[in-house]
Amino acid sequence: MSKPKVIVTRRWHADVEAILMEKFDTTLNEDDHPMSVAELQDALRNADAVLPTVCDKVDAEVLGADNIRARILGSNGVGFNHIDLDAAKAAGLTVTNTPEVLTDCTADLAMTLLLSAARRAGEGERHLRNGEWTGWRPTHMMGTSVTGKTLGLIGMGRIARAVAARAAHGFNMRIVYHDPFPPRDEDLAGLNATQCASPREVFESADFVSLHCPGGKDTYHLIGTDAFEAMKPTAFLINTARGDVVDEAALVAALEAGEIAGAGLDVFEREPTVSEGLVNRENVVLLPHLGSATLVTRKAMGMRVVENVEAFFNGETPRVKLV
Ligand code: DGY
Repeated sequence: MSKPKVIVTRRWHADVEAILMEKFDTTLNEDDHPMSVAELQDALRNADAVLPTVCDKVDAEVLGADNIRARILGSNGVGFNHIDLDAAKAAGLTVTNTPEVLTDCTADLAMTLLLSAARRAGEGERHLRNGEWTGWRPTHMMGTSVTGKTLGLIGMGRIARAVAARAAHGFNMRIVYHDPFPPRDEDLAGLNATQCASPREVFESADFVSLHCPGGKDTYHLIGTDAFEAMKPTAFLINTARGDVVDEAALVAALEAGEIAGAGLDVFEREPTVSEGLVNRENVVLLPHLGSATLVTRKAMGMRVVENVEAFFNGETPRVKLV
């Protein structure tokens, strides 16, 4: 029997690409360019499986292509707001993602942003590299203490709980959270986390608000003018979830007005474009969507895609199936 034809939309971890080449009739994206709508449509017409990443917009337009041959979208990432699941279902496609394997990595990055924003790490590094540092002095670049403060989590899924564990055990932080689908009590063991009835309650009480909800229409601009008004003027916003959860223009306005103290952001509303009002500010730490960017994690994510696609073509149900 011939091997299923697979098209990979971007370069992946070399070990995973080698396994994909071995197991399937695989076409790689040799020069790693972002695929256009037409290229994604051609991929759907010419392959049995298309393997997109979280930066490929697989929307109703792409999925409206005629003569689709593909039967599975094996997405490389946990977030799936880049895929129109209804349109995928209507086109007869199964969709899989890669939860679990990037939990710790993303939680580590959320703490990196939280600490960097609070302790002015980005600003300090720029200051030193620019040759502006004139030496230690008691009033120089004072930041905000993290230990013992309150961390507010919007969403309390796996990544949020991994952040809560780091904050509670490493930094003696108090945890408050809101999630319309709260976790089971056993998943909260040892976190000493208090559930809030609304996001607003979290905004009002937290010194750091960290976002861990999915992107998409249900959470679009959840963090906007009202949220910033409710947050403490000394509080920081941390986002490792999805850019469109935050109204970026409202965030810039809130920073300008001093409604919040700063932000640490790994995701943006219009990636890879970042609002000038953020790029020009010293009190925000900006990273280029690095949440899952370690060798170990990127390999594990790729291997989960291989596992999902292999299960599908073996007639088994992939471990996690979105549609
Ligand atoms: C995901 O998997 O959704 C992440 O955003 C990729 O780092």
